[in-house]
Amino acid sequence: MGRSLTGKGLGGTPAKLARSLPVRSVMMRKVLNAGGGSKSIPMPSHYHGWEQVVLDIDPDCGADIVADLRDLSGLPADQFDAVYASHVLEHFYPWELPQVLEQIRHVLKPNGFLELRVPRVEAVFQAVQDGHGIHEPLYDSALGPITPYDMIYGHGDAVQQGREFMTHKTCFTLNELRATLESAQLSVELLQPTGGMQYELCAIARNVVNELAPV
Ligand SMILES: C[S@@+](CC[C@H](N)C(=O)[O-])C[C@H]1O[C@@H](n2cnc3c(N)ncnc32)[C@H](O)[C@@H]1O
Repeated sequence: MGRSLTGKGLGGTPAKLARSLPVRSVMMRKVLNAGGGSKSIPMPSHYHGWEQVVLDIDPDCGADIVADLRDLSGLPADQFDAVYASHVLEHFYPWELPQVLEQIRHVLKPNGFLELRVPRVEAVFQAVQDGHGIHEPLYDSALGPITPYDMIYGHGDAVQQGREFMTHKTCFTLNELRATLESAQLSVELLQPTGGMQYELCAIARNVVNELAPV
């Protein structure tokens, strides 16, 4: 059963988990930046020194691998120590998420972990409830100012430019995200609002499939 953590708590930070990999894996650490978009969007500093592979559906963003996260069967299995998916899961319908997470588990090493960032919809709704305008910027991101509209429906400018895959098709509360991960047989080790970023949730989940497999 996974755990929900707030504040410091069990499991510590994503950085701590990244460092906790067995020594053999540390020698050849490799992370898949799933839905990474441009390589100019920085990854968290705990991936510095790792081999970083960017995968994206957008053929024009300079990704190392152009692929749809709903089908990674063309990639070798068990090859990444971590999969980092920042602001990506909300680009799928709820009924597609089991497939997407299964594909991510396909490329994750048995002891690998998935690190996620998603919009924190509770905070967006609260801001709107408190009178914040739907099209009024809430915070700045690598894509520019982000409004409640962008967080709920997807980045308006990008979609308007014809990049339909930037549309958001689902949203997560903390409990929804935990349930989604656990039902995909991922063990939640950390789940909390991102430090200093009330409009975002971050999660770390481990691939547990091999623990469940008969020996
Ligand atoms: C909001 S951007 C996030 C970019 C970056 N990860 C970040 O945190 O700023 C969402 C990314 O997901 C990609 N994406 C959307 N649907 C996808 C799919 N089916 N397969 C792979 N990538 C997808 C988009 O092309 C885009 O680069």
